[in-house]
Amino acid sequence: MTRRFLFVLGSARSDGNTELLARRAAEQLPPDVEQQWIDLAEHPIPDFEDLRHDSDHVRPTEGNLALLLDATLAATDLVIASPLYWYSVSAHTKRYLDHWSGWLRTPGLDFKATMAGRTLWGVTALAHREEVVADPLVGTLNNSAAYLGMRFGGVLLGNGSKPGDVLNDTEALTRAKTFFAQEAPLARFLYEEER
Ligand SMILES: Cc1cc2nc3c(=O)[nH]c(=O)nc-3n(C[C@H](O)[C@H](O)[C@H](O)COP(=O)(O)O)c2cc1C
Repeated sequence: MTRRFLFVLGSARSDGNTELLARRAAEQLPPDVEQQWIDLAEHPIPDFEDLRHDSDHVRPTEGNLALLLDATLAATDLVIASPLYWYSVSAHTKRYLDHWSGWLRTPGLDFKATMAGRTLWGVTALAHREEVVADPLVGTLNNSAAYLGMRFGGVLLGNGSKPGDVLNDTEALTRAKTFFAQEAPLARFLYEEER
């Protein structure tokens, strides 16, 4: 199966450090790997409305939500490129992830079975020097992948505050060169790894 990477950009500004780092990593992908990039700030979606226990969610057929759903279903590899905001994913990113809960309950989609076995990756930029502060973001992505039975390739971290700063983080740029070539094991919740 030809690999198809979907990059979901979650920054509240364009051309920021997260996108720069994600593009550096993507440059290394072989030419036969398809890439689709969707900037959530340019493709606003409604707040998630929780109808899970009232009525069926309906598959969106038009607009940005349909675009995102179709792109998500078509991706073998899904890259969440979100800056670190308050130690976790950005609100744009979180809103997109919340819609997964509706897609899980949308008749005919089989979202969970479709996503199972596919690979989730993360890319993030943060201003803090100590990368351990990004653990909540890493945990969010790891656990979300585990919940859906996905593989998890980990999170590529880069340091920066103003746009372009990440290009001075030489360690991050080095990691970017091989990031998507890494093995992505099936995601596990922490309590499963302890067994
Ligand atoms: C709303 C907001 C929250 C932020 N929260 C954090 C944070 O919790 N930890 C951190 O290290 N940097 C934080 N930052 C700094 C950004 O992570 C940093 O500027 C990053 O480069 C932004 O990514 P971008 O250039 O891709 O937009 C925050 C920035 C904003 C705007």
